[in-house]
Amino acid sequence: MFDIKKGRIKEIRDLVYREFGIHISDSKIGSIEPKINKLLMNEKYRTAEDFFSELETGNPKSKELLIKYITTNHTYFFREAEHFAHLLEDIKKTNRTNITIWCAASSTGEEPYSIAMTLLDEGIKDFKILASDLDRSVLEEFNLGIYHDNRFIKTTKYQKIKYFTKESEGVYKIRSELRKHICIKRLNLMDNLYFTQPFDYIFCRNVFIYFDDTSRQRTLETLARSLKSGGKLYIGHTETLFTFPSSLRREANSVYRKL
Ligand SMILES: C[S@@+](CC[C@H](N)C(=O)[O-])C[C@H]1O[C@@H](n2cnc3c(N)ncnc32)[C@H](O)[C@@H]1O
Repeated sequence: MFDIKKGRIKEIRDLVYREFGIHISDSKIGSIEPKINKLLMNEKYRTAEDFFSELETGNPKSKELLIKYITTNHTYFFREAEHFAHLLEDIKKTNRTNITIWCAASSTGEEPYSIAMTLLDEGIKDFKILASDLDRSVLEEFNLGIYHDNRFIKTTKYQKIKYFTKESEGVYKIRSELRKHICIKRLNLMDNLYFTQPFDYIFCRNVFIYFDDTSRQRTLETLARSLKSGGKLYIGHTETLFTFPSSLRREANSVYRKL
């Protein structure tokens, strides 16, 4: 265990909120110290102060490490699968072509790949997905495209065979047929993000739970201005209680339509 001064934990909490929008409440502040201890141990820091001085000087590597150890990246293929069915139905109903989708906070990629499998299974090939996340370490995993058995709890046998190659027992690699539809980028939802073209669909699921009202509001404004009129926003199933920008209307459980 490292000797971490009490004030340092509060500094971490403030930085994580200021830069990444992640709100750690008083009741959860105790969760920071074990994470920082893990970081210091795994990344072979000599003392806690070595790490904190690096952070203070604005060293980008230490900030990336902080993101890696502080964020929760849990995900799996076809999580909250009703959204993929809704997306498919909406594409068919609206006869959309050259479909553009932004998967914000995509973690290691299971969510955008679930979208791609859903569309390809129906013969829809003219789509592009921008998949982004704050955490570079998950994006590196995403780029490798290697997934273990525990991520496939909701994937059909057919999809596993069609879209993955078996690397070893319980380890699968994504096929290029799926990968080619996806562009991976590091984006922080707290930045002032502007895209040259708005998207038809945006998935931003299971990240709002880590934000407070101010960060949620900021993110929702970004998402709303990045959607085409008539476009749809999908948020996590448990994330339905926010105040929404006036340009978004609730269409179904955790699905919103841009006016
Ligand atoms: C629990 S995962 C959700 C993954 C996927 N969307 C899903 O629903 O399964 C939350 C992700 O949000 C990302 N995240 C947290 N703060 C962020 C921010 N400010 N900007 C972009 N991504 C962020 C984390 O790095 C993490 O990968």
